[in-house]
Amino acid sequence: MTQDVQQTLSIIKPDAVQRDFIGNIISRFEGAGLKIVAMQMKQLSKSEAETFYAIHKERPFFGELVDFISSDKVVIMVLEGEDAIQANRDIMGATNPDDAKAGTIRHDISLSIGENSVHGSDSEANAKIEIEQFFPEILK
Ligand code: CMP
Repeated sequence: MTQDVQQTLSIIKPDAVQRDFIGNIISRFEGAGLKIVAMQMKQLSKSEAETFYAIHKERPFFGELVDFISSDKVVIMVLEGEDAIQANRDIMGATNPDDAKAGTIRHDISLSIGENSVHGSDSEANAKIEIEQFFPEILK
């Protein structure tokens, strides 16, 4: 059965940018057949970070999350490919690096549950919201 072509938002977080893992991470996506169809490097403002993580605003770690993602430059990308949302999540591994399988980004690179190197959309609905925030022109 063929899977649908999807778009998903990926962010390479400050901990990975600072430690020079941009190329390593992008190679994993491209090597798995995910195409980068939009990309931007920037430091998010507090307000952009709060909008991005709005679904987590009731969580106790919301302030920490916003402070970290806006602390330094990030690389924001739209990845496109068959079943891209799940494929990206498989490449990233579990949110907590302690639980991530060997060979995943979070197992191989991440420092902690907060400094976990990458973000990826968790559903089609959230992928649309997240892509709309940064790359409205690319949304299919
Ligand atoms: P991300 O995929 O960017 O989406 C929400 C983020 O919340 C998640 O990655 C983690 O980095 C972060 N997170 C989840 N649980 C915790 C926690 N207990 N403490 C700090 N950050 C967390």
